[in-house]
Amino acid sequence: MRTTLSIIKADIGSIGGHIKPSRQLLERTREFVINSGKGLIDDIYVSHTGDDIALLFSHQKGTGNEDVHKLAWDAFLEGTKVAKEQGLYGAGQDLLKDAFSGNVKGMGPAVAEMEIEERPNEPFLFFAADKTDPGAYNLPLYLAFSDPMFCPGLMLSPKMGKGFTFHIMDVEYTEGDRIIELNTPEDIYDIASLLRDNEKFVIESIYSRENGEIAVSVSTSRLHNIAGKYTGKDDPVSLVRVQGNFPATGEVLSPYSIGHYVAGFMRGSHIGPLMPVKINSPVSYFDGPPIVTCHAFCVHNCKFTEPADTFDHPFWDYVRDKISRKALELREQGFSGAAMLPYSELEYGGIVERLERLDKLFKVR
Ligand code: F6R
Ligand code: MG
Ligand code: MG
Repeated sequence: MRTTLSIIKADIGSIGGHIKPSRQLLERTREFVINSGKGLIDDIYVSHTGDDIALLFSHQKGTGNEDVHKLAWDAFLEGTKVAKEQGLYGAGQDLLKDAFSGNVKGMGPAVAEMEIEERPNEPFLFFAADKTDPGAYNLPLYLAFSDPMFCPGLMLSPKMGKGFTFHIMDVEYTEGDRIIELNTPEDIYDIASLLRDNEKFVIESIYSRENGEIAVSVSTSRLHNIAGKYTGKDDPVSLVRVQGNFPATGEVLSPYSIGHYVAGFMRGSHIGPLMPVKINSPVSYFDGPPIVTCHAFCVHNCKFTEPADTFDHPFWDYVRDKISRKALELREQGFSGAAMLPYSELEYGGIVERLERLDKLFKVR
């Protein structure tokens, strides 16, 4: 069976700052999708990660389908009505355009989709991150799909030895999708050379070289590039198929124990460690730290099982403690050097004006 998995997510308003959406907003959005999606979608699962709400659809319409995207857009408009009624902060924040024009890509919401031939049992992971950008997935995906230190299946499984093809996007290019395709294992130094720059080069998708099947899809939108000014961080979602020809669930999760430093955190302008948290978690300290949730599902005949919350386990409590320490250690140096993003990535225009004013006051001795 050909099944399409689509995640479409947006920040359309939250309680008490950029913390989490209200229950009523989530419920109304979900009801809207269920009522208006009859005959179009096969299943829907709604969750939130920090202040972002994500709609996970299964359907048979293929990727980039206008009707599915319109359903998500209209659901976010409906949710925004609740946000306004309740006086939530940042109501409709990520809906950057006034009218729907065929596809939500480029309109504010983040999208990750894949069309697959369902295996008899089809396990997959759905990641959602808040207070960071799509480059946050670069390192964990690189390690899970190319490094036997994290993915022993690359050595042990006969089904993964041929490696994977990485599609990497230059997200600074705004005229279209500028993509390079590179293969593991032979191109890993090239892949690493690109992926070190998380703000410019982002993994868009990964394919198995064993059978050409898609393994990974990541949302690559950068609100920074769409709106030309700060409108919130990009807060990326991704889909990862697991087991069999793909890494095992635990191999895909293992790099999240690092708590690697990513862009985002307070005002989208800092560096902080990415913390794996339980599903439907809010953010807190310094509007962060940057967080990531992971739902594990099986999809069968286009219907989802109930999810398993992969980061809800005592092991990850220990990791979260370590990551809290990493966050505090970097926060000790406030705005200085590596703690804050470089000028080109600062998300607020105020500092640009400030530096322009100061520039005029310089005198050459
Ligand atoms: C970061 C984020 C928050 C806000 C901060 C200020 O992605 O959402 O850190 O940037 O709370 O928010 P505003 O500018 O809405 O007052
Ligand atoms: Mg957010
Ligand atoms: Mg937000």
